[in-house]
Amino acid sequence: MPTARSDNPLRIRELTGKDKSENRNVTEDWTKASPELSTALDIIQFERNDQLEICDGLELIADQLPDEVNVLLYESIYDKLHRNLPTYHRNEEALFELISERNSSWGDIGVILERVRREHTIHNCYAHELYENLEVMRAGPGIRNSSMIGYMLRFCFDSIRRHIAWEDLTLVPLAPKVLTRSDLVKLCETVQRNRKAIGLSAM
Ligand SMILES: [Fe+2]
Repeated sequence: MPTARSDNPLRIRELTGKDKSENRNVTEDWTKASPELSTALDIIQFERNDQLEICDGLELIADQLPDEVNVLLYESIYDKLHRNLPTYHRNEEALFELISERNSSWGDIGVILERVRREHTIHNCYAHELYENLEVMRAGPGIRNSSMIGYMLRFCFDSIRRHIAWEDLTLVPLAPKVLTRSDLVKLCETVQRNRKAIGLSAM
């Protein structure tokens, strides 16, 4: 069993040396458009930035293969991969479904939503496999199949980064244009309930 919980969002950033300012902050635009949008969307933006931090951590692990075992980095990623990522996806899907309901006349939105769900499922499957491999790797040096694990790591973080960039181009910009205040209240309840279910703090 993992021995460390990764509730501290700064930890991967500290370990990878990536600066917070390198993450996008789309909600600055959302908040300017309508201040009451900020709470639910801020949480989702925080979680999207956290996904990018997971990618940074996975990239560093891949770069350090096969010799280096950075236990702190592995431990900071365990729960985020296994526990947080599926919840972040559920929260994004709740947002995108609301956008879809408000924007149903846009013909492609159903196709886009289906692609989002499919990619989330793929990422969750990869995250689960990586989680199991990280557990073995954490045990110490002498990693078997390091080239295969390196390939899995690179596929996973490349795919998640591309996916987030694509969502930023398609669905995310629609949020301030189509969501109502009641949508945001509903979204906030859903997001907080999903976070609470896995022991994450309310924000
Ligand atoms: Fe996503």
